[in-house]
Amino acid sequence: MSEQWTTGDTSSEAIYRHPEDYDLEVTAHDVRDLPFWLDLLQQERPQRVLEIGCGTGRLTVPLARAGAQFGFMVTGLDPELEMLTRANKLTEAEAPATRAALRFVQGDVCALNLDGEYDVVLMPYGTAHHLLGLDAQIAAWRGVRQLLRPGGLFVVDVSAPDLAMLAQAREGTSRREDLVVGGVDGRSLQRTAATTYAAAMQRAMINFEYTVHDADGERREYASPFAMHVYYPRELELLFLLTGFHLERTVGSYAGEPFADRSPLMIAIGRADSV
Ligand SMILES: C[S@@+](CC[C@H](N)C(=O)[O-])C[C@H]1O[C@@H](n2cnc3c(N)ncnc32)[C@H](O)[C@@H]1O
Repeated sequence: MSEQWTTGDTSSEAIYRHPEDYDLEVTAHDVRDLPFWLDLLQQERPQRVLEIGCGTGRLTVPLARAGAQFGFMVTGLDPELEMLTRANKLTEAEAPATRAALRFVQGDVCALNLDGEYDVVLMPYGTAHHLLGLDAQIAAWRGVRQLLRPGGLFVVDVSAPDLAMLAQAREGTSRREDLVVGGVDGRSLQRTAATTYAAAMQRAMINFEYTVHDADGERREYASPFAMHVYYPRELELLFLLTGFHLERTVGSYAGEPFADRSPLMIAIGRADSV
């Protein structure tokens, strides 16, 4: 396996060094996860919330708006400086109360180094797919357990394994365009992908290539390979059981339906055991 796929036991993507492209790409996915996270926080009534893999703050900022209203603080953690720089920039337009309820911190979930105790820790929108090996996953889950108060919640949102797609990808899929999106600012982004699934490692190697046209007409092209750990349901459950949690439930969509055979997502909701 080529070095480009991995950095140690976790993976990154070149697009995270182009955060404005990431934001444009994400609009094409039309992710409707915010109401799910807001409902969850409304039920939990936390004081301190941590979002792991906050990126440019797509969720962190609206969560902090709720925090300003209902009295909780939100910390967004991410290793990518460019993503955090954009997150901080976008936050400048927010009301003072929202900014007071929000902070961004650079860091890695596998080596958490934060003060204090949290009531809820979220790892949304597939961030856990970047944790490639069992060592990294166990370090992340254990680190989160140490940050949570007993009874606190850890919620991990990953894609369910798409067995039909993975079966095809065992032979390697041919490159095809899978996304085209234009922004209100006149920029456009086109993406192609070719995927290979290494079944024994549970690793999908998705070789994305981007072509971006900026508003001034400049054209940029770059590859952004993504090494993605594919989680299976019992494996996810065992990670919680091994690290001081019990799994309250797994839901299969942002509408909150229970995880089932054809669910697109596995959103695992674990509660920290008392020590
Ligand atoms: C798919 S993006 C999600 C960003 C944002 N939460 C959103 O919903 O738009 C995954 C994020 O996880 C971050 N990430 C990758 N590895 C990480 C790690 N080891 N610890 C914390 N965050 C990580 C990436 O830098 C990236 O910003």
